[in-house]
Amino acid sequence: MIKIYYSKNKEEAGMKAARCVAEIVNRKKNAVLGLATGSSPEDMYLELAAMYQRGEVSFRDVRSINLDEYIGLDKNHDQSYAYFMRHHLFDKVDIDIKNTYLPNGLEADYEYECRRYDELFNSLGGVDVQVLGIGLNGHIGFNEPSDSFTVGTSAVRLTDSTIKANSRFFESETDVPTMAFSMGIGQIMEAKKIILLANGEAKAEILERALFGPVTPKVPASILRFAKDVEVYADEKALSVILEKHSENVIR
Ligand code: GLP
Repeated sequence: MIKIYYSKNKEEAGMKAARCVAEIVNRKKNAVLGLATGSSPEDMYLELAAMYQRGEVSFRDVRSINLDEYIGLDKNHDQSYAYFMRHHLFDKVDIDIKNTYLPNGLEADYEYECRRYDELFNSLGGVDVQVLGIGLNGHIGFNEPSDSFTVGTSAVRLTDSTIKANSRFFESETDVPTMAFSMGIGQIMEAKKIILLANGEAKAEILERALFGPVTPKVPASILRFAKDVEVYADEKALSVILEKHSENVIR
């Protein structure tokens, strides 16, 4: 079941998503959070840090596992997802850094790293809430459009469209890593709850295709239609096509 929540702007969407995550953590102190990077969840992390400052939530016993990491980047590289997570959340709240997990982008043995991450994922005993953004081509994590849905962690080759989209964070397009480790679609689908964030006009078309078009590995996010509990927090711009075609499905 997918619930689509309308927000006027990305700040509001981030705030609503943060409240949802905080509620889960407040109910279950040692919750397992499945975390995502990219610009989509930034406002959510900002609000979670603010809520922590206000004493409204504590991450002391929380464990987290991230979706993905670029292959070839050290965890201290400012574009690595490990760095992103420290900068946007881990350094700002009371989470124990030892309880936060990301793939090791420097592991040269891809097969080893994928199996290690799968074992780690299994050892956490289930993700309570998985946060997701959506790529312009419908990818979730780094699960790019494909002929089949991936089950576990894999080393993926990024598509040209993703490299181009992500080049805005690097000095030039040639600096963008061409591969990444990503948790599989099967692992994402195991989460008890999924939060999907989308902002801006560029996401409007793919969001509509993912949530209302055919379920197909060509649009990886479309698999979320088979998930038990999905909440979409999106701003007006990202919702523009959905509001035009299926406004009755949007919760205001
Ligand atoms: C990246 C990440 C995804 C993210 C997506 C969208 O490639 N691997 O996890 O959801 O792109 O990014 P953004 O939120 O910046 O639009």
